[in-house]
Amino acid sequence: MEFVDGIAVVKTFGGGRRAHRRFVEACDAFHEFFRAWSRRTTSVTTASQLAAGPVTSLLLLMVAGTALVVTGATAPADLVPFALLGPALAAPIAAVGPRLQALRGGTAAAASIAALLREPAQPQPAHGGTPQGAAVSLRGVRFGYEPDGPEVLRGVDLDLAPGTVTALVGPSGAGKSTLAALVPRFHDVTDGALLVGGVDVRELDTRTLYRTVGFVFQQVTLLRATVAENIALGRPGAGRAEIEAAARAAQVHDRITALPRGYDSVVGEDARLSGGEEQRVSIARALLADTPVIVLDEATAFADPDSEAAISDALSELAAGRTVLVIAHRLHTITGADRIAVLERGEIVEQGTHPELLAAGGRYARMWRAQDAQQVVGR
Ligand SMILES: Nc1ncnc2c1ncn2[C@@H]1O[C@H](COP(=O)(O)OP(=O)(O)OP(=O)(O)O)[C@@H](O)[C@H]1O
Ligand SMILES: [Mg+2]
Repeated sequence: MEFVDGIAVVKTFGGGRRAHRRFVEACDAFHEFFRAWSRRTTSVTTASQLAAGPVTSLLLLMVAGTALVVTGATAPADLVPFALLGPALAAPIAAVGPRLQALRGGTAAAASIAALLREPAQPQPAHGGTPQGAAVSLRGVRFGYEPDGPEVLRGVDLDLAPGTVTALVGPSGAGKSTLAALVPRFHDVTDGALLVGGVDVRELDTRTLYRTVGFVFQQVTLLRATVAENIALGRPGAGRAEIEAAARAAQVHDRITALPRGYDSVVGEDARLSGGEEQRVSIARALLADTPVIVLDEATAFADPDSEAAISDALSELAAGRTVLVIAHRLHTITGADRIAVLERGEIVEQGTHPELLAAGGRYARMWRAQDAQQVVGR
């Protein structure tokens, strides 16, 4: 899969021979595994199939029958029903083996579903609070994925004023996506608090929370449904005109109308969208859901200039009048943000506007110069 998926990368970087060798090695390893595995199981399977086969049972009947007839214990005519029924009985018995196998598979599947259902649900508040306004504040937020694992966020304080755009930047693995996922309460903080409209997210019932906070994530998930249904996910009753308006604002309308069945094309069937287009479809979804707070984790993978410009336009549409937290990987898209926060190893190390941070000559200024140099080389 890696070889086929990455063929463009392999060609570009001239790693053809090495990648091909890895492919051949993987094939050899699988061949070896399969041979060893089948050697262990074939003898048993073959033996059981032979034993329960119609030929075997017929042979057995004939040998035993002949002996009985010769010794006079049975009349030859009495053997006929056995000869007729014996082989017919063998077939269902032979089917038991594979059925047992299926049964074992089913039991294992049931066990993993049961394990999933045993996962405790996030605690829900008895009386959900009502958010006042669209401010988001993080107060000393700490978070780790595992109770005894490493801390990913180590005391983050951040205020998103209503109606402003805050950009979160920082190196890969700094914890940006993790922080973003805390706002729609995909995880609960380990310590500290996250407030939306002045209310702790743990005090908001799920419906209120999702009516307040919208999100577009790094890994876009589109359902196997029509493009229109995918956009309307956040507001199922939306009319076609509203859906199209959202798609237009997200810069993806033209692409959708070019699909074989337009908005009725089914994702994964006749709607094959690029990563950048999928991201814009999910921006359209967020626009239609029309929540006062939006968290946007910009995708890293789509660096082509056209797609970047389109996403950037879609973003500014999204930002109008909302509280936005945007995680940016290319600093050029967020120079206009009201505030930029630099996250490093789970801590905010710098905050300010683009000119302020450049003048400060710290971490952000270094990142900016590094990206600028890259852009110049790229041009
Ligand atoms: N589901 C998870 N379970 C355990 N650890 C995780 C999980 N998701 C992320 N991490 C870890 O948390 C840390 C922060 O990851 P995160 O995805 O938030 O980084 P990021 O700043 O968004 O990086 P990028 O710029 O590459 O998207 C990393 O060390 C990562 O390995
Ligand atoms: Mg991320």
